[in-house]
Amino acid sequence: MRRLQHIFQIGAGAVGVDIGARAIKVAEVRRTAKGIELSRYGVAPTPAGAVQNGMILDPDAAGAAIVGVLREAGIRARRVIVSVSGQHVLARILRLPPIPEDEVKQAVRWEAEKHLPFPVEEAVLDTQVVRELSDDGRRQIEVLLAAAPEQLVQTYVETLEAAGLTADAIEVSAVAMVRALAAPAAEGVVAMVNLGASTTEVAIVREAVPQMTRTILEGVEGEAATLEALGLQLRRSIDFYRAQDESGQITRIMLCGGGARFPGIDRRLAQELDVPVTVGALPDVLLISHRLDTATTADVAPQLMTAIGLALRTIL
Ligand SMILES: Nc1ncnc2c1ncn2[C@@H]1O[C@H](COP(=O)(O)OP(=O)(O)OP(=O)(O)O)[C@@H](O)[C@H]1O
Ligand SMILES: [Mg+2]
Repeated sequence: MRRLQHIFQIGAGAVGVDIGARAIKVAEVRRTAKGIELSRYGVAPTPAGAVQNGMILDPDAAGAAIVGVLREAGIRARRVIVSVSGQHVLARILRLPPIPEDEVKQAVRWEAEKHLPFPVEEAVLDTQVVRELSDDGRRQIEVLLAAAPEQLVQTYVETLEAAGLTADAIEVSAVAMVRALAAPAAEGVVAMVNLGASTTEVAIVREAVPQMTRTILEGVEGEAATLEALGLQLRRSIDFYRAQDESGQITRIMLCGGGARFPGIDRRLAQELDVPVTVGALPDVLLISHRLDTATTADVAPQLMTAIGLALRTIL
């Protein structure tokens, strides 16, 4: 029976859709006999004015663009995993007393109120128990809370409907990024940074788990001539985390997003922040399909990271 299941899983693909202010990114990941592979991907410009700060203002236009980029990439799946982003979208680790798994969501609603920049009644919340721990002999559980305004999530649902697609899952963009960029546990605390056209997302990551995320309303639109403002905001995010968690020294910054494709941006940000900076590579477990050009794929990879992380959600 096991064997049969394994055979059925081969060829099953998962598709991630990352709708940015400037570009729509799609990636298909599937299981093959050799392992997990990136089988197809596509990048297309977002219709002007359709997306702003994570909010989809024109679901019909965005939906049509998604149909176009999927067709061009040769992706036929009609079920996808989509990311939401923006200033009011966040994920963070909360500590709670040990409670049954089915009660976590309710318990987190109270706690979430303190952390959300908008009323909890207007939020879509998702929770995942990450681990159990003992703090000074007190047992606790760590829960990853993901939250987004319902109104914003609704614009994504409408967009997928317009594209004739079904959302298998909707995930906080920074959480998908962390899945794709996951650093070895030995790295300590890593700041993962998605340099988008109009926004920059930061996830502080410990042992592959995002501890907190932040969205900075500063991007790399056009060209990166002005890294100072971005550097300053990143520095603030790092300091904010340090103030909350003294044990957390950030050892490294990993970059992704379209902005990470600018040659030398890692070196320039390292100078600005005085922390080692690298451009995140595709996960080791991910093979590249023989259909894809290796050099081109490696060049686009940083921009695809969120879409790949979304697709890996059900495959890993
Ligand atoms: N070779 C490249 N090709 C395309 N974009 C590039 C390249 N190098 C750098 N960029 C930058 O990447 C940006 C697009 O990145 P990305 O797709 O991550 O943004 P986005 O997701 O649309 O924006 P946001 O996350 O703010 O909504 C462009 O605006 C451009 O400044
Ligand atoms: Mg983006």
